[in-house]
Amino acid sequence: MKETILVTGGTGFIGSHTSVALLDAGYEVIVVDNLSNSDAGVIQRIEQICSRGPRFIEGDVRDSDLLTSIFSEFAVVAVVHFAGLKAVGESVQKPLEYYQNNVGGSLKLFKVMQTAGVKTIVFSSSATVYGDPAQLPITESFPLSATNPYGATKLVIENILADLYRADEEWRIARLRYFNPVGAHESALIGENPKGVPDNLMPYISQTAAGIRKELSVFGDDYKTPDGTGIRDYIHVVDLASGHVAALDYLQRNDQMLTVNLGTGNGVSVLEMINTFESTNSCKVPYRIAKRRAGDIARCWADTSLANRLLEWEATRTLEDMCRDTWRWQNS
Ligand code: NAD
Ligand code: UFG
Repeated sequence: MKETILVTGGTGFIGSHTSVALLDAGYEVIVVDNLSNSDAGVIQRIEQICSRGPRFIEGDVRDSDLLTSIFSEFAVVAVVHFAGLKAVGESVQKPLEYYQNNVGGSLKLFKVMQTAGVKTIVFSSSATVYGDPAQLPITESFPLSATNPYGATKLVIENILADLYRADEEWRIARLRYFNPVGAHESALIGENPKGVPDNLMPYISQTAAGIRKELSVFGDDYKTPDGTGIRDYIHVVDLASGHVAALDYLQRNDQMLTVNLGTGNGVSVLEMINTFESTNSCKVPYRIAKRRAGDIARCWADTSLANRLLEWEATRTLEDMCRDTWRWQNS
């Protein structure tokens, strides 16, 4: 019998790609998602990619009765927890919604897991927990801070998981700190589908190249970086997804709490990203230099050696792969 993994937020961007990776690795997958930022059609598209699909349950992780019924009906061995809200700007406007959904939802989920005796969890954290790093590359032992409510929810949930592990070492916990996930599945059947105007660079670039947006605003060219624009560690979402399978494998072999960066270790500037997108896809991305965006940092990239060593995992896809797959998805 194949083991069953519950994926919360599994119709979303990273959750859908991770569901594909889990199915490909031979797991059974149950997706629970309230569809607040995704659509149910993703499930059929995952089925098309994998020739078998996840079981889909529409619902909210804050609904303890629903979660309890899932754990009693299915032999779930572990949870990969993506469900949550993720827009930094929105979190400043609506802090209560962010704490309620992200922290409240996680608390409900962990409690139901504890009661059901399912104590293995992989949690989506973020490089945002490092705030503005004093040095680079960022290792997992760097000081943590939050500059907005979204980041604060990630820190709180990381701390809850650490406390849970301290209280009961039967828990097996992976806290995965993602850098900047971009790209799409190479089939172009699943990808990132932001509602409204995108906040993030890559979807903004692809929508501008497609003519949906007039021009990209490059937020600042006066940072202390070689070309003055912000530098990030962009990671292909399919590589990120395989990092989750590696983390689950690790937790099955080792009973401990694991905290790792998932990135490529390479820093890429906004202008480098625009140039690579244009040259890879033979298209134009009209842009203008705008003011810095409040809250942005100059440079952020990961030290990935811990993930490479412990998980025997590394990102293999190039910046060109990220640009090509994003464009294919944009055009599909
Ligand atoms: P996403 O919005 O595409 O996916 C999240 C999914 O969770 C959506 O399908 C949404 O409908 C669902 N959801 C939200 N609240 C829910 C609830 N209460 N109950 C059930 N379902 C709920 O986002 P994503 O980019 O796939 O991110 C997934 C996770 O990774 C999030 O926790 C996010 O904070 C984290 N993360 C994302 C990034 C990024 O840049 N995309 C970076 C670091 C961390
Ligand atoms: N940028 C632009 N123009 C845009 C959008 C972004 O110039 O229209 C620039 C930003 O200033 C930054 C870079 O592109 O220099 C990347 O910006 P994103 O908004 O794509 O990503 P961030 O690094 O700001 O934040 C993302 C997620 C956070 C997460 C963080 C680390 O949005 O939730 O990565 O994982 F915490």
